[in-house]
Amino acid sequence: MKKYISEIKSPKVSIAPMVDRTDRHFRYFARLLTKRALLYTEMITAQAIIHGDRNMLLDFDIVERPLALQIAGCDAKNIGKAVKIAEGWDYDEINLNVGCPSDRVSGNDMGASLMAYPELVRDIVKETRRNTDKPITVKHRIGIDGKGILPDSFERTLLDKYEDLKNFVDTVGQSKVDRFIVHARIAILAGLSPKENREVPPIRYEDVYKLKRDYPHLNIEINGGIKTIKEIENHLNHVDGVMIGRAAYDTPFMLAKVDKFFEGGKINNISRREVIEELIQYLSNLNTNTKPHNVLKHTMGLFHGVKGSKMWRQLITSPWDKDVVDILKESLETLPKEILDARPMF
Ligand SMILES: Cc1cc2nc3c(=O)[nH]c(=O)nc-3n(C[C@H](O)[C@H](O)[C@H](O)COP(=O)(O)O)c2cc1C
Repeated sequence: MKKYISEIKSPKVSIAPMVDRTDRHFRYFARLLTKRALLYTEMITAQAIIHGDRNMLLDFDIVERPLALQIAGCDAKNIGKAVKIAEGWDYDEINLNVGCPSDRVSGNDMGASLMAYPELVRDIVKETRRNTDKPITVKHRIGIDGKGILPDSFERTLLDKYEDLKNFVDTVGQSKVDRFIVHARIAILAGLSPKENREVPPIRYEDVYKLKRDYPHLNIEINGGIKTIKEIENHLNHVDGVMIGRAAYDTPFMLAKVDKFFEGGKINNISRREVIEELIQYLSNLNTNTKPHNVLKHTMGLFHGVKGSKMWRQLITSPWDKDVVDILKESLETLPKEILDARPMF
């Protein structure tokens, strides 16, 4: 994996950190489809790493690499401590969450509200650097509306101008960030749910493109609302990398095509049948504490948009009266053969 170190610093495509989604089972499944995309953990707070069940939180399978650990927190010392602990697991990258609008996170001056404190983020990166020599990246928004959340002492709580984004990157960049991953919409910290914050604030890709033009020496990755291979291709004309979240989860078979964006990479010529055969192996070797449903729920979109989609979803969600491995083996007989054996095309 070390030979990929430069592309880990600047992956053409990555799969976004998503709580309740990008756990190790999803990552195993995603890795069947893309060998090159950088994968992320779910967001894990520094406090959880320091005080929680570390093996449960941090263990992963080597095949998931390259894999980035996303940490959330607001206290540089605590984040430093968490990063030091995580060194024992040898992740390929440490990513700091400065983009999450959840109350759980931003109400505690974590996540997106940190965009109002660029000096603090700069110091967090510095402290992180003291504890690891892995690439350190920052995932953030193009801005925030901090009304109702940021203290009254703030001259402005609406930090939504391109100049605000530039100021953030200028300041945080003083501590040498390996990559800025920019979700191209602002986060509205009060009044919108996290889900609404991924849909309501308008997308402003141009701000991210401009950031790359203004800072050609920085690694800039774009995120937000990117759904298709064609869209990824277009964005790569403007920025260094593309991060996809919901599309990777909802339409995972598209992931078989993303390796072609990497140097020397090509489409992963895998069929859905082969994916299911691999899943059968994975489920057969699963430890008995893990419910098969916790693996299969992540594969819901495997047949998205093609014949067999409903049958697959029913199969993996209905209560099972037989061993799940037998059910999957039977599914290879009943799902439409032409879809099971279709391979990704150019
Ligand atoms: C269910 C869900 C959970 C998410 N959890 C996280 C998270 O843990 N950390 C983070 O930085 N972003 C999180 N996000 C935001 C995504 O990483 C991404 O920035 C966002 O979905 C926009 O990209 P997309 O339009 O490609 O999905 C989450 C998104 C979803 C849908």
